[in-house]
Amino acid sequence: MDLSTTYLGFSLPHPLMPGASPLAENLDTVKRLEDAGAAAIVMYSLFEEQIIADQERSVREVEVPENSYAEALSYHPLVDEVRHGPDFYLEKVAAVKRCVSVPVIGSLNGVSEGGWIRYARLIEQAGADALELNIYFLAEDPLVSGVAVEEHLLGVVRQVKQSVAIPVAVKLSPFLSSLPHFCKQLEEAGADGVILFNRFYQPDIDTENLEAFSRLKLSTSDELLLRLRWLAILSECFRFSLGVTGGVHTGMDVVKSVMCGAHGVQMVSALLRNRPEYLTTVKNELSAWLESHQYDSLDQMRGSMGKHHTPDRAVLERVNYIRVLLGGPG
Ligand SMILES: Cc1cc2nc3c(=O)[nH]c(=O)nc-3n(C[C@H](O)[C@H](O)[C@H](O)COP(=O)(O)O)c2cc1C
Repeated sequence: MDLSTTYLGFSLPHPLMPGASPLAENLDTVKRLEDAGAAAIVMYSLFEEQIIADQERSVREVEVPENSYAEALSYHPLVDEVRHGPDFYLEKVAAVKRCVSVPVIGSLNGVSEGGWIRYARLIEQAGADALELNIYFLAEDPLVSGVAVEEHLLGVVRQVKQSVAIPVAVKLSPFLSSLPHFCKQLEEAGADGVILFNRFYQPDIDTENLEAFSRLKLSTSDELLLRLRWLAILSECFRFSLGVTGGVHTGMDVVKSVMCGAHGVQMVSALLRNRPEYLTTVKNELSAWLESHQYDSLDQMRGSMGKHHTPDRAVLERVNYIRVLLGGPG
């Protein structure tokens, strides 16, 4: 079965790859992923905060011996938590690149328009074939409008695009008031693709100790539905690559993602839960499904459930919400 796809300008044998996560931390795991057939390796992120913490740590190390007011120096909350600095990350990109023959996608995670952006170029120089830019942003300030937030994020994307020659995909949040409009601006800013969506880890509250706490939960296929809706809408408007992350666990999840227009399909929770070799199982399920439904290729199926192809288009729109509520639980 021809599962080939073009993602961020790369001709890949199929769309499946591990998403940004610790799966790329260990070179043995990376090799196992490649052996399992991963079409590309996405690195875990280098965070803006890590870069700043590293810079602040360097300043403290230089200044503390002569400065008795060390605690008065600017202090980043992550400065002692971050295990590895940016140099370690760049070395890891280079090591992963040496270890595999598939494309390696670096990941840079940040939101301010600061010096950390130069790491996009350094990740490229370390050997990354493409870059994911994760712009996780929490808009908390009542005085900052949605337009201002978007303009700011676009500024970051423009700066990154100007500093590298490799393709850049932007990993997005679903919490934007007009996603298609923002994607249009991203396209104009030179983004080579978008990845839907960042998964937000909401803190819970410990009511006894009056503390907020976070716990990482792996996803289920339910989370894919939000992605499918937006893939179906965006795939009709854009020519750039569409990647999906969040809730891909089975071959059927991949079928649905591609039907809605995805070119690249990422898995993290499923591979963490079932081992890297599970990627082969999902790829085989995808092949088997296409064969049993008489498709000649994956391309033939792509976009068949895009918004304008869906017979009942209203199911993607507001009408769906009303119908579901009036219908009650099924
Ligand atoms: C343990 C763990 C670490 C992750 N680290 C990153 C990261 O460094 N950068 C990033 O953009 N996303 C990161 N993610 C998010 C994943 O790339 C992915 O978008 C998310 O888990 C949803 O996909 P899934 O449903 O296949 O797990 C991480 C997820 C997990 C579970």
